[in-house]
Amino acid sequence: MNRRSFFTAVGATAASAATASMAQTASSAATRAVLGGPAGAKPPLFQGSARMTPLRGYHGQDVACERAAIEGKVPQELRGVFYRNGPGLFERGAGTNKQRYSHWFDGDGLVHAWRFTDQGVSHQARFVQTKKFIAEQSANAFLAPAFGSALPAHMPVRNSDDVNTANTNVYKLGDRLLAMWEGGSATDLDPQSLHTRGIVTWSPELKHMPFSAHPKIDPDGTFWNFGTMMGKMVLYHLSPTGELLKHAVFDAPTGGMVHDFAITHKSLVFLLPPIGIDYAAMRKGAAFGQALTWNGNDSTKVLIVDRNDFSKRRILEMPAFMVFHFGNAWEADNVIRVDFVQSKNLDIMSDWMPRMMRGETVVPDRSNPAFVKIDLNRGKCDVAMRDENCEFPRVDPRVVGLRNRNVYYPVDNGDRPEGFGFTGVMRIDTESGKVDRYNFSEQVALEEHVVVPRPSSGREGDGWLVGVGFDVAAQQSFATVFDAMNLAAGPQAIIRLPYWTPVCFHGHFHTA
Ligand SMILES: [Fe+2]
Repeated sequence: MNRRSFFTAVGATAASAATASMAQTASSAATRAVLGGPAGAKPPLFQGSARMTPLRGYHGQDVACERAAIEGKVPQELRGVFYRNGPGLFERGAGTNKQRYSHWFDGDGLVHAWRFTDQGVSHQARFVQTKKFIAEQSANAFLAPAFGSALPAHMPVRNSDDVNTANTNVYKLGDRLLAMWEGGSATDLDPQSLHTRGIVTWSPELKHMPFSAHPKIDPDGTFWNFGTMMGKMVLYHLSPTGELLKHAVFDAPTGGMVHDFAITHKSLVFLLPPIGIDYAAMRKGAAFGQALTWNGNDSTKVLIVDRNDFSKRRILEMPAFMVFHFGNAWEADNVIRVDFVQSKNLDIMSDWMPRMMRGETVVPDRSNPAFVKIDLNRGKCDVAMRDENCEFPRVDPRVVGLRNRNVYYPVDNGDRPEGFGFTGVMRIDTESGKVDRYNFSEQVALEEHVVVPRPSSGREGDGWLVGVGFDVAAQQSFATVFDAMNLAAGPQAIIRLPYWTPVCFHGHFHTA
């Protein structure tokens, strides 16, 4: 398949997946709290519990808080911007025309900036002004097909970026703030104002190509990424300022969805779960996400690509399992070690998430820390799993692709609570196996936490673990700051907003 037919296929997938007033910025913190918070009207299509308030989403409004309330003390060296991104709008229309997405992944991207300065911590969140968002705000109706909701197209869908929600991750590369969504291009935002500048095209032949939301940033500052769609795979290597250094397009070993990957100093490493696509279901109107199939009798494939020569690729096989997210990988003596979070199959995405979006309080399947050793000499993979119930693994950015000792996760105290969100944070020392952990109460729903290095320090773990959560009783969102090597001591600071925000997927902290 050449680039043009691949491009056409991407657009066709998006289209068949389901067959303006601009957001206004409120003028005061009090007004903003009402707009986004508990005083807002309860959407009739969503009857979730108090824990699930953030899944109601916003209605397209931006929010801002100039001075968040700080409990404890924010370290003086912790300065910069914590950017986050996630689906922020799930409902449109009114009365009998009210619509709600049936999948969490479908919401329009809402990009957050928590700014840590000498004056305190501020928060701002703005919807990414994608083509789809602008048209749907104006119409007050869903017009475009979505990943997991079977909606007809009421606007032209010619390529993946016509349905791009820019809702999954955000990273500042050079002077661009990239809002990423794995099905299409990255969207360029102004890092200061969060104003949307437009779709990024790395080179003419890569226009509208998929660009995953899980790039890996080498400690040398270069940026590695991939994209998959319709049986094809794209690899990207970008400079620290965002110029395309090289790319490749080739046949993917699997046809379905690939969400994340890992790098070592020599290789790009993919674990490709046995996910297929039911094209007959799509022809009958199923959304792309609804047409994904779990082929549990097939294998999870291990794809290893030479960083210096994308044409050098090797495939190994493991028994079937599902993986969304990786912590890190490193390579020595022809053995690659990869840590990730493993789940049994696609049920979390295909069953739990739609039920959660309807407001059902359902406990999801477990997902556990896993560690695989890939012996390149023997062509064998050995995996070890732990019991903790967690997701969103992250490592210190100074050791990405290099030998790391620590992996960080949001984690549950025991059984996962009903609804979404974790109740604690955890660091696993991969050499000793010891766990450093802090548990909040079950009245907290935590998201991903990231490691922020202490400036001028090169030692892994020297810095802070920073993340976001939702206080169920107060119905407010907050940020956390922990000593990254002593989570058990509890948060050094909790930074509270006077409102709640929708749940994010991922983000990065950009040190000042
Ligand atoms: Fe992700």
